[in-house]
Amino acid sequence: MTDHRTHRRVFSGIQPSGVPTLGNYLGAIRNWVRLQDDHECIFCVVDLHAITVWQEPRQLAAQTREMAASLIACGIDPAGQILFPQSAVRAHAQLAWIFNCVARLGWLNRMTQFKDKAGKDRENASAGLYVYPSLMAADILAYHATRVPVGDDQKQHLEFANDIAQKFNHDYDVDFFPPIEPLIMGPAARVMSLRDGAKKMSKSDPSDQSRINLTDDADTVALKIRRAKTDPHPLPSEPAGLEGRPEARNLVGIYAALADLPPETVLAEHGGKGFGAFKEALAELLVAHLAPIAAETRRLLADPAAIDAVLRQGAARAAAIADPITAEAERLVGFLALGG
Ligand code: TRP
Repeated sequence: MTDHRTHRRVFSGIQPSGVPTLGNYLGAIRNWVRLQDDHECIFCVVDLHAITVWQEPRQLAAQTREMAASLIACGIDPAGQILFPQSAVRAHAQLAWIFNCVARLGWLNRMTQFKDKAGKDRENASAGLYVYPSLMAADILAYHATRVPVGDDQKQHLEFANDIAQKFNHDYDVDFFPPIEPLIMGPAARVMSLRDGAKKMSKSDPSDQSRINLTDDADTVALKIRRAKTDPHPLPSEPAGLEGRPEARNLVGIYAALADLPPETVLAEHGGKGFGAFKEALAELLVAHLAPIAAETRRLLADPAAIDAVLRQGAARAAAIADPITAEAERLVGFLALGG
């Protein structure tokens, strides 16, 4: 079960938020696409996690499909890798239950994401939101995946997953679940709102002007960039000059990430210019990158049945890995194996 290929197995999950933003693309998806070259990858649209907060049922289904289509349009290869919706593989929920019984309340109480997401009205948060980290641990460990690309904000969840793996191994006196290695994706790719350089670019921001969606057409992209908040000063010629200028830093960061250049190089070229010229160059670069993705996403979404067929195949291949691992965990726990 653990030859050296599985040892490098990558697992990652993304919320079914519909068509992703530029932030999702530069922060996560583009890294996934790159990992495919030398890893066996399993990519999951995490609809079980999504319902830890209220989701309109019809929208959830549509958004799960949209996310999958966008991932494929961005270059995730659903034939070479595995792409599926979490709810389609039962092992996730089954293993998560066992992990709920391994996790300690004290560990869950320390999770900062629960505190952030539950907010002030904690009594009214779902129990699912509280045990979100157990399900995330199950996502990864059901595949014995050892490499997990995530943003900075998910690091605590991976430590939690490692604690679960260790405690399970210890309690049942086995060496069954491997340690997980986070592949933290650089903070350079943290994309902020176009209206407020202190806020993350997000699907949930009420203003569509605050984000670039991967299906925005060329005119929309250009307009959003032209209207993006900036300050009255010209661009600095080196990164130190971005200090205290979050909006300028964000636009330079986006440019650098898309052009695959260090910010120094971008500023060496554009420093001293006003934002007008820079924004034009940035819009052009964005459109060059995003137009083909938008077109491909639209083409895929025109045939929902074909996307579902791809996801069904992905789920079958995922289950073929996760089911035996989960069955073995159940046997170790002492569940009666009735076969069949
Ligand atoms: N919690 C992750 C996020 O919000 C999504 C996720 C769910 C995930 N399961 C995962 C990420 C397993 C990596 C591995 O971004």
